[in-house]
Amino acid sequence: MVDRSFADLSLAALYDSLNPWGQGDDFYVGLVMSAPTVLDVGCGTGRLLAAARRAGHPGQLMGLDPAAAMLVQARRREPRVEWVLGDLRSRSWNGEFDLVTMTGHAFQTLIGDEELRTALRAVRAALSEGGRFVFETRNPAARAWDSWTPDRVHEAADADGTVAWMWHEVVHPVLGDRVTFTSTFEGVRWDRPQVTTSTLRFLDARALDGFLTEAGLTIEEQYGDWGRGPVTQGAPEIITVARSAT
Ligand SMILES: C[S@@+](CC[C@H](N)C(=O)[O-])C[C@H]1O[C@@H](n2cnc3c(N)ncnc32)[C@H](O)[C@@H]1O
Repeated sequence: MVDRSFADLSLAALYDSLNPWGQGDDFYVGLVMSAPTVLDVGCGTGRLLAAARRAGHPGQLMGLDPAAAMLVQARRREPRVEWVLGDLRSRSWNGEFDLVTMTGHAFQTLIGDEELRTALRAVRAALSEGGRFVFETRNPAARAWDSWTPDRVHEAADADGTVAWMWHEVVHPVLGDRVTFTSTFEGVRWDRPQVTTSTLRFLDARALDGFLTEAGLTIEEQYGDWGRGPVTQGAPEIITVARSAT
């Protein structure tokens, strides 16, 4: 089921303001520009593929997302990309893409073991020979969720300039590698606070390697931050470049 933060039109309209273009986007856009065909899974409001098209990418660019409200933003932003409503189970794949990406921690929305296995098998099927799957997941050892507290209030505005405020609160205790948290949105758009609940999975590098190997994907490069530093204990990210195992 799609999390309401992404499924509700008024909340999806705040996404880009809450998540401005960053180093991660720079990292991915370089990869997209050098791949002839690209599938962005969990493309959200579409900023990665839209940026690539505007920078002159000439090939097939497909953005896939199960949240219609996010695709409303994507279609407005750049009609010259194929925006598809659904997830990796929505089609059968047959080696169409030289690059598959999952950006903005979209990978962490894959919670269950079977859900993850099905998604990774589909990624493998969608990759052309020698194609690459590139994605990032937050390093559990860095415990990002410790800073998801109500005293950290984020201000955002939608395209009309209507301001809103948002904060997170983690549901304790944190059980295993899944973190559940609420996001509260307040602003003049609503007559009462809007509260959504999300769960993200935090796989460590070893567990990640196990799932990728099982799906026939081999890790080619792995980084702990967007500057391509190593995955150390305190590194914020696990950024993985994987290839189909031969
Ligand atoms: C945090 S947003 C990231 C959006 C975009 N990749 C970015 O970097 O701005 C996560 C996205 O994953 C999508 N999503 C949720 N469950 C998914 C699934 N099972 N398969 C693919 N995408 C999913 C959500 O709808 C949402 O748009």
